[in-house]
Amino acid sequence: MSKVTVDAPANIAFIKYWGALDLDRALPRNRSLSMTLDSCTSRCTIEPLDGGPDEVWLSESDGGFRAPSAEFVQKVRNHLDHLRQWAGSEQTFRVATRNNFPTAGGLASSASGFAALTLAAVRALGKKASNKELSSLARLSGSGSAARSVFGGYVEWPAGETDEEAYAVQIAPAEHWELRDIIAVVEIGPKVVSSREGHRRAPSSPYYEKRQELLPARLEVVRQAIKDRDLSVLGPILEQEAIDLHLIAMSSEPPIFYWSPGTVDVLKTLRELRQEGLSAYATLDAGANVHVICDADSEDDVAERLEDMATVGFVIRDGVGEGPDFDATHLF
Ligand code: DP6
Repeated sequence: MSKVTVDAPANIAFIKYWGALDLDRALPRNRSLSMTLDSCTSRCTIEPLDGGPDEVWLSESDGGFRAPSAEFVQKVRNHLDHLRQWAGSEQTFRVATRNNFPTAGGLASSASGFAALTLAAVRALGKKASNKELSSLARLSGSGSAARSVFGGYVEWPAGETDEEAYAVQIAPAEHWELRDIIAVVEIGPKVVSSREGHRRAPSSPYYEKRQELLPARLEVVRQAIKDRDLSVLGPILEQEAIDLHLIAMSSEPPIFYWSPGTVDVLKTLRELRQEGLSAYATLDAGANVHVICDADSEDDVAERLEDMATVGFVIRDGVGEGPDFDATHLF
């Protein structure tokens, strides 16, 4: 079996996974719903080895390779163990991975990275898997949101108590609604506290149970707004949901502050843009960077305005994407 290379996309959650029933198996406490992105992707190339332990490399943009942290290598090996166990194989691999966007700044690099690793490894193991299985397998990486990154378009991930129940499904393809995601990067570099730790602390917030109560109705509105392609309904809910996630993080014990001054600046600018008649709404994952969701007609105006802001380092123009690509060029 020769090399396999897969590009898998990041995704941005409209309804967030925050808090787990079982953190090690990434079984979420609540349903989540996301939009798969188009341009922000992770590439993974994997090649079977004749023996010895898995080799893990980070591929650099100049074509070179660098050794990742011991923690990352362990996470990749553990995930390959899950996949080998599923496939009934002892095959070890050389793995290289590269993100085409800033890593770990709340831009979902784990989701795309582990979705790419899962899809590439399943192929390299010579196994066929259903979409359900691929999603569940990606989830086992511990980066739960990877379960959503194996699909394009709009994706819902139910909260299951067992491995069999906890897989994501596509609820609408990308062409259903060509939403844009203009990402205002206000902070680069690793986030202060991992999502894993955020999930662990979430139930200690006095607002955590309240959000659980609100979620079923909120989810229904989001589903319907996607069905109707109605940003005026989706947008305000998106912002509420993102603020609630951060409210819970900030009120967890100990508290987590993901925001930076640029985050507040962008939120304020969006209010101004809406007063000027543009339809653009913010959402944030566990990080300071702001994803601005808007339609294609507003994209240029929104991006130009954000680019002019002193607290915005740079802007990534992305939008809904069609899902993983199995024809990518090998990294080595
Ligand atoms: C705030 O446990 O999937 O992005 O391992 O960093 O990818 P990573 O995080 P994960 O939690 C995701 C948390 C979130 C919300 C979401 O994407 O649903």
